Amino acid sequence: MKLLEERVLKEGNALNENILKVDGFINHQIDPELMQAIGEDFAEHFKDSGITKIVTIESSGIAPALMTAHAMHVPLLILKKSPSKVLNENMYQTIVTSYTKGTSYELTLASHLISERDHVLIIDDFLANGEAATGAIRLIRKAHATIAGVGILIEKSFQPGRAKLEEQGFSIYSQVRITKLDQGVIELMEQ
Ligand code: G4P
Repeated sequence: MKLLEERVLKEGNALNENILKVDGFINHQIDPELMQAIGEDFAEHFKDSGITKIVTIESSGIAPALMTAHAMHVPLLILKKSPSKVLNENMYQTIVTSYTKGTSYELTLASHLISERDHVLIIDDFLANGEAATGAIRLIRKAHATIAGVGILIEKSFQPGRAKLEEQGFSIYSQVRITKLDQGVIELMEQ
């Protein structure tokens, strides 16, 4: 997606070979007009997929996922992160480990908000190792709902997330694909 590629190149800050800071328009401050365009782009890409709900993971996925839900006229379902290990029969729960942050958390989904009649689109800001998306998929499967695809704003294509998801047969659409990061260096894949 041209608009997001331009913003990443202009305002993204590559800290090292692994981390791209996008605090000014995605993570800490959000550009609503950019988010609207992002939502419309996902809606266009997945328009014929029969989607009934958008699913995202708090917190940075919420803004683009909401705009996608708005553009597709479907509800947005948020997977919550919780440190709690308490079992709750009204919740589907799974543990996700973040390699980037070196932490684990419990991802939860309220069971009454999803059913086997749902066909969902997962939206998230970054795809790195694919752990968050894989956790989301585990929860959606517990509900016997089906997955239309995964929409990502920024994919770090040199990390294994895409391959992991494609191996399981999922359709991935990433608006920006980064082939290389280094201090002050951002290289994008031609799309
Ligand atoms: P994975 O889900 O693809 O395996 O990624 P990983 O666990 O390694 O990353 C976990 C968190 O780090 C996610 O945020 C993800 O968005 C973020 N992240 C990964 N790589 C980058 C990067 O290069 N730049 C930035 N800015 N973030 C990155 P999170 O913990 O879910 O936090 P949030 O949604 O509350 O912001």
